[in-house]
Amino acid sequence: MSTSKIAFITGANRGIGYSIARHLTASGISVIGTYHANAGEAKAAETTLSNENAKLRMLQLDIANHASFSDFAGQVKTLLASGFGQGELNYVVQNAGNIIHTRFDAATSEQLDNQYNIHFKGPYLLTVALLPLIRDGGRILNITSAATRFYLPDHGPYAAMKAATEVISLYMAKELGVRGITVNAVAPGQWHRTSAAVWFVTIPGSTRVSPRSRLWGASDNPTTSEPRSVPFCLTTCAG
Ligand SMILES: NC(=O)c1ccc[n+]([C@@H]2O[C@H](COP(=O)([O-])OP(=O)(O)OC[C@H]3O[C@@H](n4cnc5c(N)ncnc54)[C@H](OP(=O)(O)O)[C@@H]3O)[C@@H](O)[C@H]2O)c1
Repeated sequence: MSTSKIAFITGANRGIGYSIARHLTASGISVIGTYHANAGEAKAAETTLSNENAKLRMLQLDIANHASFSDFAGQVKTLLASGFGQGELNYVVQNAGNIIHTRFDAATSEQLDNQYNIHFKGPYLLTVALLPLIRDGGRILNITSAATRFYLPDHGPYAAMKAATEVISLYMAKELGVRGITVNAVAPGQWHRTSAAVWFVTIPGSTRVSPRSRLWGASDNPTTSEPRSVPFCLTTCAG
């Protein structure tokens, strides 16, 4: 059986998820990633990011299709065994998402349901479905947003769901601590407006939950325009 580490990342075919997968595979950590609609992009990512030390394999997932998660966890288990010779995941990164821009007083019921299903209920229930596959001592990162900390126009429903993600991360850290599983919420910073500064915000009281559980916020090096905070947190800070 292989001993290399395996990360599971939702939304790994593009954007921040792709960047996380790129950094992890480059450092020898294999990745099971997901895509939603862009199958061609997912296939290209598998080819581009796989190397002699680590590989990327992609599965299709709709994070809003909660009824599919039991079957989906079965697919992950099968791929772990057949593609990687492994039985467990070391890391889970809940990254997939969208944003519906709307003023508070213009949001429809459908828009609120969409943001709730994609940013809170989906990652929540998917993590529960994957728990039997996460090794004791593993790590879970939930991607949040700096929009929970200051006002951005038309970000209200999105930011509120990310705030819920941060709260449940504290409860997850407490309740999964018995298995040594670390849970962090990470705000990766504005993807298209980066700065060299790196900042970390400790959630008040989080040290009472776990000294390794906190809200991480990071802006990344503008020369690369790629967020390094999440792989940094996975492989160093939360270790
Ligand atoms: N961009 C920023 O500046 C920023 C800042 C703070 C936080 N964030 C957060 O960081 C995360 C990634 O953002 P990003 O900018 O990298 O996004 P992105 O480039 O728009 O990529 C979104 C990813 O999520 C997947 N996805 C979308 N809807 C999905 C669904 N219903 N089910 C499953 N997967 C779905 C997409 O798959 P397909 O391509 O196959 O559809 C894609 O892989 C999100 O949680 C976002 O809220 C972003």
